[in-house]
Amino acid sequence: MEPNTGAKARNVTGDDRDFQSSELGTKQFWDDVYVRDLDNYKESADVGDIWFGEQSQMRVVRWLENCEDVDMQDAILDLGCGNGMMLVELHEEGYRDLTGVDYSGAAVQLARNIADKEGMTDIKYETADLIRDVREGALTCRCGHYKVCVDKGTYDAISLMPDDAVTARQTYRTNIKHLLRADGLFVITSCNWTREQLEEFFSTDFSLHSVIPTPTFQFGGKTGNSVTSLVFKPKS
Ligand SMILES: C[S@@+](CC[C@H](N)C(=O)[O-])C[C@H]1O[C@@H](n2cnc3c(N)ncnc32)[C@H](O)[C@@H]1O
Repeated sequence: MEPNTGAKARNVTGDDRDFQSSELGTKQFWDDVYVRDLDNYKESADVGDIWFGEQSQMRVVRWLENCEDVDMQDAILDLGCGNGMMLVELHEEGYRDLTGVDYSGAAVQLARNIADKEGMTDIKYETADLIRDVREGALTCRCGHYKVCVDKGTYDAISLMPDDAVTARQTYRTNIKHLLRADGLFVITSCNWTREQLEEFFSTDFSLHSVIPTPTFQFGGKTGNSVTSLVFKPKS
């Protein structure tokens, strides 16, 4: 997912003065993507995009496998699951308490179809908007239940919302805190935000647990990452 690629990009005010909103921050965009992908899947069994590539997904899966704090029976929630391929991969590795949430009904339908075809009928899916307060019943997902919440590209999409992205991001952050167990982990993969920016924003409720190494590039004498993967733990 390239940042700021929407044709209707404009500047966002407030603490994100240099950040731009775009169509990628709208539900309509994602509905269109997943309605198309659902049709393609029915026709040709093509599951569609794995955002930021398969390597980004596998880095998260491998990190969880190697994390001594996470067991196969722990509840894992994929926030903005899209086609659900992260959960399919985790299921293949042996995790069994898996739930995906996305606000696009077509994404959830696609994810359901893919999981069912793989015989993974125990993966749970739900259509819900993650910037509505989870304590007010926006989700049937349970507060304080999840050992791991995974986000790959969803915070990025929320950050590109045309209207009041700052409030949306803050609600999203609060929701994650409520959904996680006290000893839970929030694993985020972003291509729009740097490690420093993510650490700063999430520091109100989370502290850094780990950095999942990602490829680096060099430009103008500086080293950077095109994708950042971090693991946060909730502050008590
Ligand atoms: C870049 S895609 C990533 C999809 C998936 N995580 C992956 O890695 O393939 C962003 C996803 O976030 C979902 N999304 C964006 N805003 C959301 C919101 N407010 N509530 C729930 N899902 C949202 C989109 O529908 C889309 O599936």
